[in-house]
Amino acid sequence: MSRAVQTQVACTEDMKKAAGYRAVDDHIHSGMVVGLGTGSTAYYAVERLGQKIKNGELVDIVAIPTSTKTENQARSWNIPLGTLDTHPSPDVAIDGADEVDSHLNLIKGRGGALLREKMVAIEAEKFVIIVVESKLVQGLGVTGALPVEITPFCWKRTMRCLLDVEAFQGCQVSATLRQEQDRIYVTDNHNYIVDLFFKEPIPELVSAARQLIDIVGVVEHGLFLHMADVCLVSGKEGIRLIE
Ligand code: 5RP
Repeated sequence: MSRAVQTQVACTEDMKKAAGYRAVDDHIHSGMVVGLGTGSTAYYAVERLGQKIKNGELVDIVAIPTSTKTENQARSWNIPLGTLDTHPSPDVAIDGADEVDSHLNLIKGRGGALLREKMVAIEAEKFVIIVVESKLVQGLGVTGALPVEITPFCWKRTMRCLLDVEAFQGCQVSATLRQEQDRIYVTDNHNYIVDLFFKEPIPELVSAARQLIDIVGVVEHGLFLHMADVCLVSGKEGIRLIE
């Protein structure tokens, strides 16, 4: 890796850490039930929460992790854990995102945890997003895939249905079954993920979201519309809020 690239990576890592730490400092108080997101930015929120519980700054916290990976990280910090079944109404959920538009609509799930992330976020009193500024976009779907979690049963048929979604007609869309190390990627829920790629921003977001979830075989999709309450955007100049 060249020195310039190394510096860029280090800088991005610092920005993620700043966002994760700030979200915990500003939004988590003793006694809260907290949804913990998944990904390299949410990682720092979990780290900060773990530190603050360890040093006694935060007490009586219960955390609900959104993936096995986050659960393992939380366990390594001895963060007390619950589920939506034991704690149905989290006070706050903190999570990263793949893309954020100016209305705080999101694409999530490139890390594969979209189902649990959406379940926790939807029940949380407040949904706090933490991103580096490169995640801000004019229209969703421009920097990468829209992930869709589907059942393994007859996945090719479900993938065909995804391409037939009415809201996508007239725009160029392609679908790929997600692979990892030459194997089909399997989610924590034992499902598959189809990544949808668009040549231009995804049209008709609300209709697209409804039509995707209406497909039998689709478990959940990565469009998180009108869910986020606040977004902490981390850049070289510091953190700014979008509400
Ligand atoms: C995982 C997610 C992540 O929140 C999203 O991919 C952002 O991750 P990162 O902070 O590593 O960029 O949705 O399913």
